[in-house]
Amino acid sequence: MALVASEASLLKYNTFGIDCRAKELAVATKVEDVVELSQSGKLREGGYVVIGQGSNLVFAEKYDGLVLVMENKGVRVTREDDMSVTVEAAAGEVWDEFVKLCVDNGWHGIENLTAIPGTVGASAVQNIGAYGVEAKDVIESVAAYDVREKKMVEFKAADCGYGYRESRFKHAEGKRYVVTSVRYRLDKKYEPVLTYKALADELGMMGARDADTVSKTVAKIRWSKLPRPEELGNAGSFFKNPVVGKEKYEELKRDNPDMPVHETEEGYKLAAGWLIDRCGWKGRTLGRCGVYEKQALVLVNRGGCTGQDVRKLAGSIAEDVKRKFGVKIECEAEFVGF
Ligand code: EPU
Repeated sequence: MALVASEASLLKYNTFGIDCRAKELAVATKVEDVVELSQSGKLREGGYVVIGQGSNLVFAEKYDGLVLVMENKGVRVTREDDMSVTVEAAAGEVWDEFVKLCVDNGWHGIENLTAIPGTVGASAVQNIGAYGVEAKDVIESVAAYDVREKKMVEFKAADCGYGYRESRFKHAEGKRYVVTSVRYRLDKKYEPVLTYKALADELGMMGARDADTVSKTVAKIRWSKLPRPEELGNAGSFFKNPVVGKEKYEELKRDNPDMPVHETEEGYKLAAGWLIDRCGWKGRTLGRCGVYEKQALVLVNRGGCTGQDVRKLAGSIAEDVKRKFGVKIECEAEFVGF
């Protein structure tokens, strides 16, 4: 059974570097650990939070429940033909190591998602996305342990409620499922996705010769804009890019002709980083939490930052954006224990 510690520090379990505690902390290195925790009554609906590397979380001073860290490992091919391969990875696998393994094996589809902190499990919960690709584009199915019914279940991607940074697993009703592994359908033939301008520009005239080049280029761009959590505590993009309707978009565009926008199926996706920057927040600090100087979308730990500091700053930023542009921005990072 998983080792359970009481009154445990979460400092090394969140990339924001917030010094906080959990009533109980359990590390599962295999699926059976999750089953046993459930059967022993330690995993009760509403009484736990599942984490991978804690790269998208902000904890309050104390979480009065059980933090379950998924560290189960394993990658295997479950199906293969001349064109594609289905690869199953355990939830606790480190996402970027999995990307590298796929690139090295000539399994294509996730190279644009290089250098994203977190785990395989988190990729399916958050539907991570970057440089024109989202996890849902390649996820075939998700296996999970249902804490309510105490049994394993499997969801086809179509039943996961996927949208932009969105899935059923992020909502109260979906939290009964502890994701244990994810299957991805990957292509043997390489079809580069170069819809993201910064990536196409960086690759230049040469284009995407191979997945390895694209993967390395993505990592280069990413680390030029985002702080490495081991150097400066952060949770990646702190806000989601807001989507507005045609009328609102046209009004904003009239007043701000240089405003970046991305047309999507859902509507006009604005750049939260640009909106926050325009409100003058870039590089500013409130309490012990700051807005990263190279990218206003990212909040950083200026040293000894608490969850309350983060919440206060995020709230002030959202208020300013609402006042100046009339647009509501929502946090992408999740607050736990508040
Ligand atoms: N911008 C500013 N000022 C800033 C930041 C951005 O003016 O301080 C402008 C940029 O010039 C650009 C636009 O806003 O025109 C968009 O900025 P950027 O490309 O830096 O960020 P993004 O495209 O909104 C999203 C994801 C990132 C992902 C990149 C690359 C969200 C919330 N964020 O950022 O995801 O890496 O695209 O595809 O969707 C993450 O989720 O942790 C993350 C880093």
